[in-house]
Amino acid sequence: MEVEPNGVNYPKNMNSTYEDEEERKHFQRIVSAFKYYKPHSLQRVKKTETYLLSLPAHHQKLLSRYREHLNEVKRCIENNDDIIKLIIKDVTNIFENVTPEDASTDSVRQVSLTVAHRPILADQEKVQATIKQFVRDWSTEGEEERRTCYQPIIDEIVNQFPLEHCTPGEVRILVPGAGLGRLAYEIARRGYTCQGNEFSLFMLFASHFVLNKCRGINSFRVHPWVHQYMNNIEPQHQIKEVYFPDINPSDLPENAQFSMVAGDFLEVYTEHDYWDCVATCFFIDCANNIVQFIETIYNILKPGGIWINLGPLLYHFSDMPMEESIEPSYFEVRDVIRGLGFNILTEKTHVKTRYAQNVHSMLQYEYNSVYFVCQKPKKIRVSESMNVSNGSETNGSQEHEN
Ligand SMILES: C[S@@+](CC[C@H](N)C(=O)[O-])C[C@H]1O[C@@H](n2cnc3c(N)ncnc32)[C@H](O)[C@@H]1O
Repeated sequence: MEVEPNGVNYPKNMNSTYEDEEERKHFQRIVSAFKYYKPHSLQRVKKTETYLLSLPAHHQKLLSRYREHLNEVKRCIENNDDIIKLIIKDVTNIFENVTPEDASTDSVRQVSLTVAHRPILADQEKVQATIKQFVRDWSTEGEEERRTCYQPIIDEIVNQFPLEHCTPGEVRILVPGAGLGRLAYEIARRGYTCQGNEFSLFMLFASHFVLNKCRGINSFRVHPWVHQYMNNIEPQHQIKEVYFPDINPSDLPENAQFSMVAGDFLEVYTEHDYWDCVATCFFIDCANNIVQFIETIYNILKPGGIWINLGPLLYHFSDMPMEESIEPSYFEVRDVIRGLGFNILTEKTHVKTRYAQNVHSMLQYEYNSVYFVCQKPKKIRVSESMNVSNGSETNGSQEHEN
């Protein structure tokens, strides 16, 4: 089955938000960031080359291979930029609620024609992170990460909703913070109705490209580690190419129900008792207030619904200027989970996981992630459900029936 051509959509209730000038500026800023990738990245190489040329002649001679390597780095940046051009080629059309008429108005057209913003360094890092995400989600090299991060979640879904005992198309599964969409895709591939949700335009542009434009297996390549100038054992490790997609993303069963929805998880998902399962991978620590994420997950799950989570507590907003953040430990998060009314069915700590890692680097990050499976009670007393929707404190374990 074809992934629907407009597979990455703003949900309908975001129409008015998109009209908003701030949204337009943000959209334009991200397009600009992709467009600045090449000049910004080449500038970085140039700086090194300039310094190299200022070194004593005999030092330069000793470093002649290194100088050739920098030329290779530039070639890889050019190759990455070819993919970036494809990613941003039709971005003005990827959101379902931008009509062709809108797209031809000046304000929208400007998005593709203007590079109005000076690049923000953080945005350039996000472009680079997006390129690395292709490895995690859509390459053979990412298989090991997907085996440790996505497979336990998929296995639990199949365990909770056995294909032989249910109509999988009737099981609604939500993957908030879906990144480039592989976990959501894999769930849909098994027949479940699955929706990925993502609010980063970096990720949305790239997932739209891979899900809707990439067809031939390994027909594209990126050089994901080309910006890692340090901790390389061999020069080849920096310039290594990685091919994607490792499978044809349009290879879904005939009746597969798979969609990606753009927008803030907290704003988009307000309908209570709707989802059979919420699957979060490296997501819950992306909140200013993790309790709000957990409470929303609780509210949107049907009674008896299942929440499966895997990931660390990296708390993305921690110590970020101008951002608020709380950083409860896992044990404190667990109190919140139980306090809201969930029953914890399975729990594991110290689950070794990696995130978009260059396996050849001398520097390796590994997370001792937590994995857990929770269930919203099948029956909720009226007083309890009122408390949860009011956001007031509850003592779920005493009040709930399972
Ligand atoms: C660390 S990444 C994990 C991506 C993917 N689940 C994976 O394991 O590769 C977290 C993702 O959540 C997205 N995200 C963070 N806060 C969000 C929110 N409030 N609504 C929707 N997506 C969000 C980020 O843009 C990012 O792509």
